[in-house]
Amino acid sequence: MDRRRNNHPSSHCLLPLLSFPLSLLLLLLLLLLHSPLSSNSASTPEIVGYGYSLGSVSVDLPSHSLTADLNLIQSSDVYGPDIPTLTLSACFETDERIRIRISDPENARWEVPGEIIPRPSAGKPLSTGHSPASGRRVMLEETGLLSHPKSDLVFAIQKTEPFGCAVSRKSTGDVLFDASPDGSDPGSSFLVFKDQYIQLSSSLAGDRSSIYGLGEHTKPNFKLTHNQTLTLWNADLASASPDVNLYGSHPFYIDVRSQSADGKSPAGATHGVLLLNSNGMDVVYTGDRITYKAIGGILDLYIFAGPSPVEVIDQYTKLIGRPAPMPYWSFGFHQCKYGYKDVTELEEVVAGYAKSGIPLEVMWSDIDYMDAYKDFTLDPVNFPVLQMRNFVNKLHQFGQKYVVILDPGINVNESYETYNRGMEADIFIKRDGSPYLGSVWPGPVYFPDFLNPNTSDFWRKEIETFRYILPVDGIWLDMNEVSNFITSAPTPNSTLDDPPYKINNAGNQRPINNKTTPATCLHFGNATEYDVHNMYGLLEARATQEALIKVTGKRPFILSRSTFVSSGKYTAHWTGDIASTWDDLANTIPSILSSGLFGIPMVGADICGFSLNTTEELCLRWIQLGAFYPFARDHSEKGSVSQELYRWESVAEAARKVLELRYRLFPYLYTLMMEATERGTPIARPLFFSFPEDTNTYAIDHQFLLGGGVMVTPVVKQGAVFVDAYFPAGVWFSLFDHSDVVIAGTTGRYVTLEAPLDKMNVHLKDGYILPMQREAMTTREARTTPFHLVVALGLQDGRSSGEVYLDDGERVEMGEEGGDWTKVRFRGGEVNGTNGAFLRSEIVNGRLNWGWIVDRVTFLGLKADQVGGRCEVFISKGSNLGSNSAMVKTSPNSGNGSSS
Ligand code: NOJ
Repeated sequence: MDRRRNNHPSSHCLLPLLSFPLSLLLLLLLLLLHSPLSSNSASTPEIVGYGYSLGSVSVDLPSHSLTADLNLIQSSDVYGPDIPTLTLSACFETDERIRIRISDPENARWEVPGEIIPRPSAGKPLSTGHSPASGRRVMLEETGLLSHPKSDLVFAIQKTEPFGCAVSRKSTGDVLFDASPDGSDPGSSFLVFKDQYIQLSSSLAGDRSSIYGLGEHTKPNFKLTHNQTLTLWNADLASASPDVNLYGSHPFYIDVRSQSADGKSPAGATHGVLLLNSNGMDVVYTGDRITYKAIGGILDLYIFAGPSPVEVIDQYTKLIGRPAPMPYWSFGFHQCKYGYKDVTELEEVVAGYAKSGIPLEVMWSDIDYMDAYKDFTLDPVNFPVLQMRNFVNKLHQFGQKYVVILDPGINVNESYETYNRGMEADIFIKRDGSPYLGSVWPGPVYFPDFLNPNTSDFWRKEIETFRYILPVDGIWLDMNEVSNFITSAPTPNSTLDDPPYKINNAGNQRPINNKTTPATCLHFGNATEYDVHNMYGLLEARATQEALIKVTGKRPFILSRSTFVSSGKYTAHWTGDIASTWDDLANTIPSILSSGLFGIPMVGADICGFSLNTTEELCLRWIQLGAFYPFARDHSEKGSVSQELYRWESVAEAARKVLELRYRLFPYLYTLMMEATERGTPIARPLFFSFPEDTNTYAIDHQFLLGGGVMVTPVVKQGAVFVDAYFPAGVWFSLFDHSDVVIAGTTGRYVTLEAPLDKMNVHLKDGYILPMQREAMTTREARTTPFHLVVALGLQDGRSSGEVYLDDGERVEMGEEGGDWTKVRFRGGEVNGTNGAFLRSEIVNGRLNWGWIVDRVTFLGLKADQVGGRCEVFISKGSNLGSNSAMVKTSPNSGNGSSS
């Protein structure tokens, strides 16, 4: 089978190229051949004999792009024959990103369709492109540089034979991506391009580079450690195994750099790199170099300029799609377990939470609710329809929600209507002309092909029919890598089922077909599983989102295990099957932070652990941390000890305390959700997002920020009653006890905090205003309570700011033009020369007015002669949460002040 013949049309970023006058081109080439292109290339011997040489070059001025032919210098048969001629294009798709695309001009190859991740010129035939943006000029200078007047990035042809290119920063000269042959490693080639093996290598800035991303993997460190191979091939491998490929593939990293030796590049300058390729790959990271080894597709690289971490993620999510808004209720606490045996047990758990005074927002069902594990059915004995409807109705009456699991495998069974409808619609993935037969929970299954346009219709109707029986509030997509309990025999002599280069699947080079749909399976349009495997979960989430919006008219909540680039547009994510161990508790932090970088900010891990038996102490520490995951759900494996938070009094006590703070923080968390939908900024962030210039933050693995200024410092070690923490510059006020303050000065400070079992450390940084409401048993109730604004005055200038975004919590879009939503900005500060402070609020958009009021303001960080730095203002009748201003006078020796 010729895999390339049936591919989607290629994408291309170039306009019809204006041919460069031949004489100019020749001159250019002569210059390229004779001028030292960079100090780097001048000082290193060349690798001669392999790779590609630069052929003709054309430049299109209006579209800020360049295209060049690359001709094979010498071939090698390892991993198959080389593609003799390649086309390289480099273009400024925006001021902030350069796209470098290398592909085969003769044969269209698989690439991520523009319909899935829209790019300015994606999905168009090679010979056409987008129309030029007016008024912009691109320059291909004598030195082989391609620049853009508005961009800080510069693309350079570094070498002509063998060909090498690089992207640098214009402002500082820092080389960001350098795919130039490197004489220090004469055995390796920098650009290898075969049908089933593509390699590209880039040097990094040595110790100056801190690299994050390239997931999904479970790791103890957030910052990637040197000398490792990161494999991307979606697989149902328990996330309790560190370092192996997992459920998702995100070939994206950010490089946060410390200051350059010449001082030109400041600490914290950050750029991002995406290799948009859905094929399986190994990414080898040595510390000095990063080498991609993909088994198909094309080289489609995007370099994002930053220069701050926040800007990189903004630029990245602008390309791949902004995260989906999540409903307000999804920020409440969720409870699940694989193995709840019947509806009575579900009711008992809900009652258990109510009785112990621990808020429970969402009850979940794992596959137990289904009839013989068939999707869209209810077990008639243990989860009978009437009782289930009653159960869900009651939840809804109390303002609670219910979410169920769906697996992609549809049971092959003629007495099962969903199966019959799927067969009729002909929407299953095929192999050798018939639906491919896998095996999952219900036994024999076929897998819906979500690339088939008819599948969305099928899926929506099934969801709609099921919701008619049981009005579930959200959908959990599991096993969608896809996971298969069998490994089918490879098709004889198929290089798809058995490719020449073996990626390091499962950490021991297991065949790529291991326990999944075989690579020779075909999807709609004859796309092979080999090419689209990593996108299955993404496509399923997309179809589910579309279905839920159509069926409910509300903002959907979807939780998917498997993800790919742009999944955040559709779904939340959890980190899969972690174990109830102290290591896995700690590992959840790097996993959650990585998900944020990948554009999936709504992320959590199974609180108290999934596999193995949790313990009282572990579960207590886990809820102390998990209460601050963006998505907070307790979930565990069938047969493991019950771990609902009320099972141990000490855990219940700790849970009440931390969930109380979480629930008070809802307005803040929801505002962060809004920010994520606008700029992609993660909800849970690494410290360096707020303090990029502080290099101490680069190696922090077990603390994180919610938004810009709330820092979470959990205990992740058994028996520990102290926790070592790092506090970047500033003053940090405990959110549990405002008078517990860490003064980190102007440089930052390592501190050992007390952390007995009944204490969780969460701190607010000076300069922030936190919008809070009161705790309650549900989000619905919490939303009706008055606001409490916590104003932490800035250390440097006595000023602080914050904002709050509000809508009904379930409208499909957040913050849409003309929509019913409200945003209020706050400013606070000390009034010079008085013992007072002020707080002002200003409505940015005020279409929604639910009569919210503020009845309490806490000022933190007032000067020491003013009531120990703290002042509480209680407003008896409340003041509208709108455009307002208040002056506060503080009186010594009391925590209270008066407002006017
Ligand atoms: C695997 C999922 O990761 C886990 O959360 C779930 O409980 C089981 N499948 C059973 O559905």
